[in-house]
Amino acid sequence: GLKIVTIGGGSSYTPELMEGFIKRYNELPIKEIWLVDIEQGKEKVNIDAKMSQRMWDAAGYDVKVHVTFDRREALKDADFVTTQFRVGLLEARIKDERIPLSYGMLGQETNGAGGIFKAFRTIPVILDIVEDMKELCPNAWLINFTNPSGMVTEAVIKYGKWDRCIGLCNVPTIAMMKEPIALNVDPNELIYQFVGLNHFHWHKVYDKDGNELTSKVIDAMLDGKDVGLPANINNVPFFGEQIREMNMIPCGYHRYYYRQQEMLEHSLMEYETIGTRGQQVKETENKLFELYKNPNLDHKPEELSKRGGAYYSDAACECINAIYNNKQTHMVVSTKNRGAIPELPEDSIVEVSCYIGAKGAMPVAWGKLPSAQRGWLQCMKAMEECTIEAAVTGNYGLALEAFTLNELIPSGENAKRVLDELLIAHKNYLPQF
Ligand code: NAD
Ligand code: G6P
Ligand code: MN
Repeated sequence: GLKIVTIGGGSSYTPELMEGFIKRYNELPIKEIWLVDIEQGKEKVNIDAKMSQRMWDAAGYDVKVHVTFDRREALKDADFVTTQFRVGLLEARIKDERIPLSYGMLGQETNGAGGIFKAFRTIPVILDIVEDMKELCPNAWLINFTNPSGMVTEAVIKYGKWDRCIGLCNVPTIAMMKEPIALNVDPNELIYQFVGLNHFHWHKVYDKDGNELTSKVIDAMLDGKDVGLPANINNVPFFGEQIREMNMIPCGYHRYYYRQQEMLEHSLMEYETIGTRGQQVKETENKLFELYKNPNLDHKPEELSKRGGAYYSDAACECINAIYNNKQTHMVVSTKNRGAIPELPEDSIVEVSCYIGAKGAMPVAWGKLPSAQRGWLQCMKAMEECTIEAAVTGNYGLALEAFTLNELIPSGENAKRVLDELLIAHKNYLPQF
């Protein structure tokens, strides 16, 4: 039987992960699941473990859920390792959001200054995990959803030199779930192709005869239909003229770049009234753990759909299933470019359509991109490269270079102040600086 290890086991998404594994048990013979956390996550991970064990027992499968605060104990002989930890917990996220917002800049978990700092805190930890894996489970796969998922995956592959890593996100999953409903077609009859980076991709859709349906999805989206916007993103509409001309479906996160002014205004309004997204999530999370404590609850509660990451575990379980059973399933994941986007370096991590099987993710080549998309991707990737290198080296000048390249951080004195304040606010989690 398989040994699965989940680092950051105390996440409120853990029951969703269990649901995904239970659903696939006939194909994925899991024997044990190890939830790894740290001292501060003790209460949450213990609640999750009990809830998870109830779910397995209710399903009637002989799977044992373990909790440990010793990562190395868990990693020994693991088959699959999933990562869903949050360095500095929600308090750190709230600082990533509040400090830029206090200077009138976007404060968001994976975009702008906050996203850069989440990478600075996370990359040293993931590289330590990789070192442990080299020693304790050299054949295991690392399935990462720790954000910023694309940059964390690039750090693992480029700097950790660990190729058996796939980065995941729920945004493509929800798009491929909701678009067929909006178009009223059978999801199995659609052909998808995605291109771009994590939280910065576009896609096209075709029917089973190869006819392009992209403009139909664009129309549905502009009509306000649900095409899979994650719960954490405010629904400012895109400009129709721009998207129709592009004829590519942007992801929800493109709003921060195509409607920066309105997204910033909305974030500032929330910051001054109901609090940042991180503050709101804290309340949802408290409610979820109250529910999980109920010894009669043995299935994932509805409340979890209020989290932006809903359904990401489904992607994780499907990915593991596809690798284990060499399914060659189409999935959109973060993997090494290898020419799929010829205008980006071949070793950049990109989020594109792939076929997933025993040798990991094989990207589908997109080819040449229009000027606008090519330019965006090159600039975003340069920003990511500077961020990752700064996260590894602690080079202040390079951190400032990443800030300057980031479209959501206007350059100048305030950018430098935000950088300095974030360095102080997070100093316990930034040993490299
Ligand atoms: P969370 O705040 O509940 O954190 C999960 C757990 O990680 C906590 O129990 C915490 O104690 C633990 N943790 C912190 N540092 C750790 C360490 N060094 N080692 C082991 N455990 C540690 O977080 P969450 O809201 O469940 O999100 C978890 C992560 O997944 C975040 O990084 C988040 O950004 C990411 N996420 C990604 C996607 C995606 O689309 N890829 C979707 C949702 C969430
Ligand atoms: C999104 C994403 C995640 C993101 C999360 C935030 O949809 O794909 O990468 O970080 O949901 O959700 P939350 O509920 O924590 O704000
Ligand atoms: Mn994501």
